[in-house]
Amino acid sequence: MKIFQADTQIFAGIDTEKVLEKISCKKYIFMTDPMMVKIGISKKIEEIFQRKGIEYEVFSDIEVNPSLESIKKALEKVIDFSPEKILALGGGSTLDSAKAVSYFMAKSGREIPVIAIPTTCGTGSEVTSYAVITDTVNNVKIPIKDDKMIPEIAILDPEFTKTLPKSVVADGGIDALTHAIEAYTSKGANLYTQIYSLYAIKTIFKNLLKMYEDISNKEARIEMGKASCIAGFSFEKAGLGINHSIAHNIGGKFHKAHGRANGVVLPYIIKFNSTDEETAKRYYEIAKELELPSSSIEEGAKSLAIAVEILNKKLGIQSCVKEFGIDEKEYRDLIPEMAEVAMNDICTSGNIKNVTIEDMKKLFEIVY
Ligand SMILES: [Fe+2]
Repeated sequence: MKIFQADTQIFAGIDTEKVLEKISCKKYIFMTDPMMVKIGISKKIEEIFQRKGIEYEVFSDIEVNPSLESIKKALEKVIDFSPEKILALGGGSTLDSAKAVSYFMAKSGREIPVIAIPTTCGTGSEVTSYAVITDTVNNVKIPIKDDKMIPEIAILDPEFTKTLPKSVVADGGIDALTHAIEAYTSKGANLYTQIYSLYAIKTIFKNLLKMYEDISNKEARIEMGKASCIAGFSFEKAGLGINHSIAHNIGGKFHKAHGRANGVVLPYIIKFNSTDEETAKRYYEIAKELELPSSSIEEGAKSLAIAVEILNKKLGIQSCVKEFGIDEKEYRDLIPEMAEVAMNDICTSGNIKNVTIEDMKKLFEIVY
C-alpha cells in the first residue's frame, strides 16, 4: 500500500527568477488576479519573462470564488494560445483556477502543468489535488479532486507575501493551523503525514504572530510559507475533519473568509472531539510537542484548545459566530440545512469521532 508520496517540487525562500531560470519552458500562460495587477506585483513576473525573452500571455480575470464561467474564459484563452505551462501567481482562488484549467485541459488530452506561486500563506493549494469552483447558476460550490491538478512546481517566495494585510495573514495562518491539526487527528493520518502536521503546527505557533505583528519580518514569512505548504501536504494525504465541514457552511452562507470561519470554530471542535479517546490522545501529543501543560491526556487536549483560543484572540479572530454580527434568528433557522450539508461534506468522513446529525446541529449551536 502506498501511504505517502510528495508530488510537487518545492522551492522555498528563494527568488522566483532563479527558479524560473531552471525550468525549460518557452511559452507560459500567466494567470493572476486583478488585485495583483493593480498593486503591481504581477509586473515582477512579467519583467522576468521579458528579460528572458519568454513568450507569455496574461489572464487576470480571476474571481474571488472562481466560477465555471471564468474557468471557461481562461480555457478559451489557453486553447487559443497553446502554452507549455501555466504559471499561477495569487491566493487560493488563483491557484484553484489554474488547477481547474489544467484539469479540463488534461480531460481533453492535453497536459499543461501548473507552476504555483502562492501570495498568501494558508490554503496549501500549491501542493494539493483540490480546487473549488462555484456554479453561480445553481449557487453551489463544486469541489474537484484529481491528482492531475497537483502543481508540478511550487515556489514559496517571501517577496510576494510582504504586503499582505493583517486580516489575510490571520485568516490564512489559522486555516493552515486547522489543516495541520485536522490532518494530525484524522482517520487517514499515518506516521508520515503526522510528521508533516506536527512540523506545521509547531512552525505556525512560532511564526504566525510574528508575521501578523510585523509583515516586514522576512524570516517569519518564509517559515509561514513553508508551514502552510507542509500542512497542505499533510491534509492532501490524510484528509480533514468536521471543523472544515462546519466552516464551509458558515463561510458559504454568511460570506466569511474560509480561514477565519475555521479559526472561530476550532477551539469548540477540539473540545467536542476530545470526548473521543483516540482523538484526545492525539491532541495531547500535539500539546506535548508545543510544551503546553499536558500531565494527562485530558489536560493536554484542554491545553491545546486554550492555546488556540489565545492565538485567535491575538490575531483578532472572533471567539464565536455571534461576534461576526450574524443575526441569531437567521442563523438558527439555517442550522438544520447547514447541519445536513455538513454531514455530507467530504471532510466529515475523516473525523475519527462519529458524528450524528443531532451532534452536528448541536455543534452549530455551540459555535454561535
Ligand atoms: Fe482550509
